[in-house]
Amino acid sequence: MKFIVVQNDQEMSRAAAGHVVRTLQERADAVLGLATGSTPVGMYQELVRLYKLGGIDFSQVTTFNLDEYVGLSSNHPRSYHVYMLNHLFSHVNAVPEQIYIPDGNAPDLKKECEAYDQAIDHAGGIDLQVLGLGINGHIGFNEPGSSPEGRTMVVQLAESTIQANSRFFDNPASVPKQAITVGIGTILNCSRQIILLAKGEEKAQAVVNMMHQQPNPANPASYLKLHKDVTVIVDEQAASMMTLMTT
Ligand code: F6R
Repeated sequence: MKFIVVQNDQEMSRAAAGHVVRTLQERADAVLGLATGSTPVGMYQELVRLYKLGGIDFSQVTTFNLDEYVGLSSNHPRSYHVYMLNHLFSHVNAVPEQIYIPDGNAPDLKKECEAYDQAIDHAGGIDLQVLGLGINGHIGFNEPGSSPEGRTMVVQLAESTIQANSRFFDNPASVPKQAITVGIGTILNCSRQIILLAKGEEKAQAVVNMMHQQPNPANPASYLKLHKDVTVIVDEQAASMMTLMTT
């Protein structure tokens, strides 16, 4: 895994957007795997800025989001559908038919998950997968204990994830307890290139664990070591425990 430390959120966002831009330069009809949460917000802002300057074109791009809460409709203000509209899709020329986000309100969630994996396969896999990192090492919503072979599925959210994400909801009780997530197997086997972003001191321990542990089920991000093209981009705060370890 390549490990890049940058000064701050702005530099992390620019570096991440740079990866997206290079992917689109190589292939105008690239397939992107996208994350939500607070970490990639700056990356989306940078992509929107570049789009408005005429630097990138999303008209041929296909996107697959990593996850969505179970039980939230696609117009719920806290759904990842609305997040993606607000942060990216309503600002660029992405084509709605080429935007995939799991439907957490699907009548048959198992079918929804199977269809999602089939759509990824049908698109030819993912050229660039963007990941964030949970404080407990989750990627997507693959919580500790997840199998490295997992495909898209319904999962129970860990208590720490519910707590962490309650900042986006009125109170912790309204955070959904389940989500659909693209599985670790799908991430590892269907992505040609992966970038993982982390910022802030609260991610420092998870970054150390990811970088130093052998792949193991207690730490889902450690499975990224099984992929041949992963770039980890972190700000100085998220890298602070790595620095302490090496000095
Ligand atoms: C979201 C996702 C999650 C987040 C992780 C970090 O689509 O896949 O794994 O990346 O929970 O969230 P933030 O960025 O809010 O700290």
